[in-house]
Amino acid sequence: MDRLEAYAKENNIPIMQKEGILFLQDYIKKHNVKKILEIGAAIGYSAIQMALVDDKIKIVTIEKDQARYHEALKNIQEFNVQKQINVILGDALDINVDGQFDLIFIDAAKAQYIKFFEKYKHNLNPKGVIITDNLSFHGLTENYEHIKSKNLRALVRKINNYKEFLINNQEFVTKILNIGDGIAVSRKKL
Ligand SMILES: C[S@@+](CC[C@H](N)C(=O)[O-])C[C@H]1O[C@@H](n2cnc3c(N)ncnc32)[C@H](O)[C@@H]1O
Repeated sequence: MDRLEAYAKENNIPIMQKEGILFLQDYIKKHNVKKILEIGAAIGYSAIQMALVDDKIKIVTIEKDQARYHEALKNIQEFNVQKQINVILGDALDINVDGQFDLIFIDAAKAQYIKFFEKYKHNLNPKGVIITDNLSFHGLTENYEHIKSKNLRALVRKINNYKEFLINNQEFVTKILNIGDGIAVSRKKL
């Protein structure tokens, strides 16, 4: 794991923070999660961490960047979890995934969070959850007015729109947790 973390740092690949990973692993254990869909594999770091919780866990993860996809395949082999993780190369907004999942983890392009949520909520088991990372975005979502860069401000505005979308959602109830880079846990209203 240290090697993957160092590789991600050296190559500027954003991977989930340790605190967020520990939260995910704990959630998976406590709720007996067995089927996971991840949007945004990068080099496979979070998928491997989730697979290592229990060898009965099956994960489908989607990555659109070819180089990262190949790196993910290599890392998954190295950790010997290839029977548990299926990596799909493609844009999550263009492809369709079959099946129902206990946990859908959204960790891809932040500007597209609402689209990912709307598309993949149909793949969620009735009692499952959608977890989204980076709701705090390094604390920037709470300090929006101090951001100088126009592009960054636009991105942070989109993350804040996503938060609003979750808070006002008629179908889902969401808890936003101050863990790692800010994690949202959304479940279907009964
Ligand atoms: C934050 S990284 C994922 C990190 C990974 N979940 C981890 O913690 O190890 C986001 C990844 O999502 C990918 N991505 C962005 N938009 C995507 C899309 N529409 N479909 C598939 N992958 C996407 C990016 O190429 C990037 O590698």
